[in-house]
Amino acid sequence: MSSNAACFSVIMLISSCNGCYCNVAFSSYISEDSANSQSASMANRDIILFDKTEANYGVGYNTSTGKFIAPSSGVYGFTWTFCVDSRTTDGGALNYGEYGTELLTGNSVIGVLHTDTEMIGDDACSTGFVIKYVSEGTEVYVRNNYAHQGKILSADNHTRTTFSGWKLYQ
Ligand SMILES: *[C@@H]1O[C@H](CO)[C@@H](O)[C@H](O)[C@H]1NC(C)=O
Ligand SMILES: *[C@@H]1O[C@H](CO)[C@@H](O)[C@H](O)[C@H]1NC(C)=O
Repeated sequence: MSSNAACFSVIMLISSCNGCYCNVAFSSYISEDSANSQSASMANRDIILFDKTEANYGVGYNTSTGKFIAPSSGVYGFTWTFCVDSRTTDGGALNYGEYGTELLTGNSVIGVLHTDTEMIGDDACSTGFVIKYVSEGTEVYVRNNYAHQGKILSADNHTRTTFSGWKLYQ
């Protein structure tokens, strides 16, 4: 190793170990069983629980609570894709599939999404995306924000309802 290369690697080490958790990224989704059970008991303002993860770097997302807790402050991107199915009733009228969801940081709504089949016997998905500064320890989560019809659609052989986020910079 030349002395220049050694110097470069020391600088890299210092800049990437700045006392912060810079590498934060999670990707979660709802299993089919959980989609069915959550749909059956969903009440206005219930937190949507994404019970599975594909990735959870920095362990900010919790599959028991449905909440991401920022391990460090910074600018984050969040996205959620919500799918509804009108073909299976959640106990209400078997008509349309319609869900309103919103993204929150703490008690503040930072994103709103409407998913609506507009047709009986159909399914539909919609996606929200938000970039926001989040302070360390702040909770970020998705909740139902008004009365709904049909059920949450999330199945490995069809489509997944997902919630993901990652840190862009400090
Ligand atoms: C997830 O939340 C539950 C309930 O608050 C808690 O018991 C558990 O320790 C949390 N898991 C992690 C990895 O933080
Ligand atoms: C997907 O799985 C569900 C339940 O297991 C089943 O009812 C449905 O027919 C399957 N769909 C396809 C396209 O295979």
